[in-house]
Amino acid sequence: MAYAEISAALAAAFKSIDLDITPVLSLPAMGRGADLQCNSLMPIVGKLPPSEAAVVVAQVGAALNLPAEVGIISPSGRAFLNVTLSDAYLAKIANEMIGDPTLGVIPDATGVAVLDFGGPNVAKQLHVGHLRSFVIGESLRRLLLSKGHKVISDIHLGDWGLQMGKLLLGLEASGYSLDASGLDRIKKADFKLSDLQAFYVIGNDLCPAKDEDDDSDSNQASLTARARHLTSLLQGGHPEITDIWSILRSVSLSEIGELAKTLGAHFDLWLGESDSHSDVLAMVETLTGAGSMIHDAGALIVPLENQKPLLIRSQAGSVLYGATDLATAWARYRDLKADYHVYCVDKRQSMHLSQVEQAAHSTGLVLEGVFRHAAFGTVNGSDGKAIKTREGKPPALTDLIDTVTRKTREKMGPGVDDAVVEMVAIGALKFADLISDRTSDYLFDVEKMTSQEGKSGPYLQYAVVRIKSLLDRANAVPGTIEPPTDPASRHLLFELSRFSIVVDRAYLELKPHFVAEYAFQLAQAFSTYYAAVQIIGSKSEASELGLCLLTMKVLERCLYLMGINVPERM
Ligand code: ARG
Repeated sequence: MAYAEISAALAAAFKSIDLDITPVLSLPAMGRGADLQCNSLMPIVGKLPPSEAAVVVAQVGAALNLPAEVGIISPSGRAFLNVTLSDAYLAKIANEMIGDPTLGVIPDATGVAVLDFGGPNVAKQLHVGHLRSFVIGESLRRLLLSKGHKVISDIHLGDWGLQMGKLLLGLEASGYSLDASGLDRIKKADFKLSDLQAFYVIGNDLCPAKDEDDDSDSNQASLTARARHLTSLLQGGHPEITDIWSILRSVSLSEIGELAKTLGAHFDLWLGESDSHSDVLAMVETLTGAGSMIHDAGALIVPLENQKPLLIRSQAGSVLYGATDLATAWARYRDLKADYHVYCVDKRQSMHLSQVEQAAHSTGLVLEGVFRHAAFGTVNGSDGKAIKTREGKPPALTDLIDTVTRKTREKMGPGVDDAVVEMVAIGALKFADLISDRTSDYLFDVEKMTSQEGKSGPYLQYAVVRIKSLLDRANAVPGTIEPPTDPASRHLLFELSRFSIVVDRAYLELKPHFVAEYAFQLAQAFSTYYAAVQIIGSKSEASELGLCLLTMKVLERCLYLMGINVPERM
């Protein structure tokens, strides 16, 4: 682990004066004065009067036993410990990293992580909202893998609730009967996803929104009842309806599959809500028997502490969103042996997922295991509100990809390979999403994301390509990295040395933006170094090339962790 000697010295000093604290190292708040800072004394010392605090900090300082060849730790301010690494130690870390396939990241996480991301609904065109789940989800998948988990990703299609009833209703209203003859016509029709989307819209428009139930005329109310009835026929296994539904589902699947491929999102499992159906039935039976699921005004619910109950089955008898998610968590625990359940889902669903988590534990369906909601915010347009098309709809993902690809082509100029343009465009799109903390909303700015100079995907891809060509041009081979003799090399070495700390933090908080931000800082440190230091033909060429090689490896790994590919040239 990077800085293991520092952490060990700090831990020993804390222990020697009976403080039970695990040291945490971070970047100094003001960004200067030291390489690193340890603020772990703060919670204890912060409560003491200043004079007593100073005594404790001085005691820790006196108990510190760090070899000079590693660095210096000195008390600072009221409760901080400043760490300055020695030049030799920085070079030592770099040389260790270069020979280590994980670049210093310790794969010490154990167990099976099931990552639920994507969640597109059948019959709906993928839109901007899915961009975030695909992009952040894929990055989380790679972070989990790098830290040593066995990872199983599941797209978790929305293919079961009332939305399916509405789709069937729309089909029926468009003149397709839902029987054997209709099935035949539907088979021959060779629908596209856009057709299904149109049927869904027709069906949805025929059903009044929930809260307007009272104002709706009786015809509309009966159409809603029809959609509900179609949903329960589907859930009850009605043969023709099931066949029609599978045709519609597979149309969706092939288009979703294409987009997932374009965006490089990998799913080990292509399951959906419908796959939990038999588990839902078994679950209802066991849990009602055990009394943890109860009847409430005709519906079935799991009562929860300090939050609204989780709805399992509606009055009309259809299986609800809470039921499919709870039964799915159960199956993941039982069959996949999942002990880490990660949901990369829109933050507006945090209440739902918190209900599912509590229900999974309180019912005993999931006895052990941690649930994490990697929640994300919305993608906004220039008006600061959720991005919309002129018609007021969330833009289709394919349209967004086209826009970014067009802009990228324009900027790269004529004669560039289509495959390279696509790689750069997708990189731009992904980096723009990953650079902001996933919990915040971000502004979709095509100009900025495709820029080759700013904080962008293309800038990072270009940084890698540039180092690669430098290494190709050099006569010498990369050698052992010597301790730095100038500030730019030292800063670059320091940036490299903290890579594993960054990955650990991104993994722990499930936040890829730490990697994105770091990659940008590293690329900048390299630019400064490149401008300041002669590499090719210098006396220290082998060492400089070693430094270049390590920078390239670390940048490439960051881009890998973000799911961004790098072209050979650009
Ligand atoms: N299908 C849902 C939607 O479109 C998202 C599913 C998220 N995953 C989950 N396990 N609930 O809103």
